[in-house]
Amino acid sequence: MKKLIVFSGAGMSAESGLKTFRDNDGLWENYKVEEVATPQAWKENPELVLHFYNLRRRQLSQVEPNSAHYLISELENKFDVTVITQNIDDLHERAGSENVLHLHGELKKVRSEKHYNLIYDWQYKDIQLGDLCEKGTQLRPHVVWFGEDVPEMNRALQIAQEAEILIVIGTSLNVYPAANIAYSVNQNCDCYLIDPNPPTLNGNQKFTIIEGGAIEGMNSIIKKLIA
Ligand code: APR
Repeated sequence: MKKLIVFSGAGMSAESGLKTFRDNDGLWENYKVEEVATPQAWKENPELVLHFYNLRRRQLSQVEPNSAHYLISELENKFDVTVITQNIDDLHERAGSENVLHLHGELKKVRSEKHYNLIYDWQYKDIQLGDLCEKGTQLRPHVVWFGEDVPEMNRALQIAQEAEILIVIGTSLNVYPAANIAYSVNQNCDCYLIDPNPPTLNGNQKFTIIEGGAIEGMNSIIKKLIA
């Protein structure tokens, strides 16, 4: 089976009802990212940060994968698929994708603020100040905030280098190092990009650009790939 990589961003989940980051005047669901998604914010106002992510978790429990998520999971019938996503939602998994690598963490997991390896499955519950890890320190969302390392980056790059087909979908490619995934495949990889407002590409690869939403774009790619 050919190795196929899907590299997804916030636009992937837009048609499920989750807002993207950069389409809303720089606000993420009405909050400035620096108030809720930075180590500084966590230091200065952990209550607000927890509240923000509690809202995101509750919202996630109320939305469903869209048909683009399902079409991606169906690609597994024909290809060896890995989804590398910048999204912290679980919609790829809920649509049935088996191999999902979350570059920016997962909303449904929490971790100790001091012991990086103490990560817990938290589902859709709220986190409160005073919820502690087994070593007695505060739990925080298991997400990568601006300015933090991306621990899964090297693994993702290795996977991307083996790709024979790459589908980039719903990302502005604004945030590094994650955006490097789009430019790390080898020269004979077959590359597609789906976005209603396609970003400027920096690399040397030639992409087939499908200007449209995730659902429309995936429907058209499926026809090409499974002809
Ligand atoms: N279908 C596909 N793409 C869409 C749709 C749609 N229905 N609607 C919007 N888009 C596109 C936008 O045109 C844009 O190019 O999705 C992209 C979303 O870009 P961003 O909001 O910048 O999201 P993303 O690239 O995932 O952001 C990267 O930044 O805030 C951080 O950590 C956060 O993982 C996130 C990272």
